[in-house]
Amino acid sequence: MSAEGRAGERKSPSADGATAGAPELPATLDEFFDIARERLDPGTFGYYAGGAGAEITLRDNEQAWARLRLRPRMLVDVSRCETSTTVLGEDLAHPVCVAPTAFHRLAHPEGEAATAVGAERAAAPFCLSTLATARPREVAAAAPAGRRWFQVYVFRDRGVTRALCEEAAESGFRALFLTVDVPFFGRRERDLRSGFALPAIDVPSLAAAVGEPGASLDMRAIGELLDASLTWRDVEELVGTSDLPVVVKGVLTAEDARRAVASGAAAVVVSNHGGRQLDGVRASADALPEVVEEVGDEVDVLVDGGIRRGTDVLKALALGARAVLVGRPVLWGLATAGTAGVERVLRLLVDDFALSLALCGVPRARDLDRSVLERPPRGPSVSSVDGSL
Ligand SMILES: Cc1cc2nc3c(=O)[nH]c(=O)nc-3n(C[C@H](O)[C@H](O)[C@H](O)COP(=O)(O)O)c2cc1C
Repeated sequence: MSAEGRAGERKSPSADGATAGAPELPATLDEFFDIARERLDPGTFGYYAGGAGAEITLRDNEQAWARLRLRPRMLVDVSRCETSTTVLGEDLAHPVCVAPTAFHRLAHPEGEAATAVGAERAAAPFCLSTLATARPREVAAAAPAGRRWFQVYVFRDRGVTRALCEEAAESGFRALFLTVDVPFFGRRERDLRSGFALPAIDVPSLAAAVGEPGASLDMRAIGELLDASLTWRDVEELVGTSDLPVVVKGVLTAEDARRAVASGAAAVVVSNHGGRQLDGVRASADALPEVVEEVGDEVDVLVDGGIRRGTDVLKALALGARAVLVGRPVLWGLATAGTAGVERVLRLLVDDFALSLALCGVPRARDLDRSVLERPPRGPSVSSVDGSL
């Protein structure tokens, strides 16, 4: 495994740092994707992989990171690289976190418990979805030392949401990530084609919202359980009633980032829900600069969507994000090898990030700024590492 000393510090990052010791697991995220596609039932694979509409935003999320070009600096001592960051005032060994995604038992019988353990082993915070196939307290019991956050969808039956948030708080979850881009689920054409409907698996939140366990529901029916009347007033209310910091997930504009901060959010996640909601919206990499410019001095800005390589993580931090969330690749890891697959996917990303830092000539992740990017996108003027840009 990678040579980690103090939390976040690594010696001589190497291209194969994550692969030592577990040769039977894939060495690239693309291989995880291929294996998961073979293993999963086609309807489930389409649900995980797909986006909304023509999947323009889904594709653009990855392409937008790839469009950014790097300006590395040479002959900087990178014999030790420091990947650590802070989120919500807490130190993280590295900036790679697990995004909330629904229904992990469709990928692996051990579901979210397996994901949480994989994340714990890779020192990655795990954000548990409201639509999980495990209860918050079960996830906490499976990975007690892991850092965990709880993602909130607000059900029309507010009592269901309140009870879930309370259980999360009692189970050591450290923040509530309120997802604001799902008044309804996007029109996901792969699911319409496949007729994807949730098989009879236990989704505690849905059982509570519907009033009967194990009901087979399609995404439209699930969407109808959510409260589409949510406004910023509800964000203020959640902030006011919760002991946990509230993170607003799903902003794409400076205006909404400002509203989130004015409503008491402790952080925002720049996200288009992995291209699954409104097709044609901007890639999260393209939205990140204006959000950082607007609120980055006041709250932490996180980002997700299309993060597939260490250089994507590096670019996100260079644009001002504190951390990134990774969605689908974690599901591919889970489907391929349960806990070990999740751990491996995360370690591949973290090790690739450490290597990218070294090759970029930036030994400390905290020192990343826009000077490592070729054409700085819109935003405040940049200062290079030695101030000479
Ligand atoms: C299969 C799937 C299920 C998801 N479920 C949720 C969810 O329950 N709650 C939520 O806030 N976001 C959900 N998301 C969005 C992710 O949190 C995240 O924004 C997105 O996956 C990041 O993009 P990436 O998959 O390209 O990394 C889901 C995404 C996928 C792919």
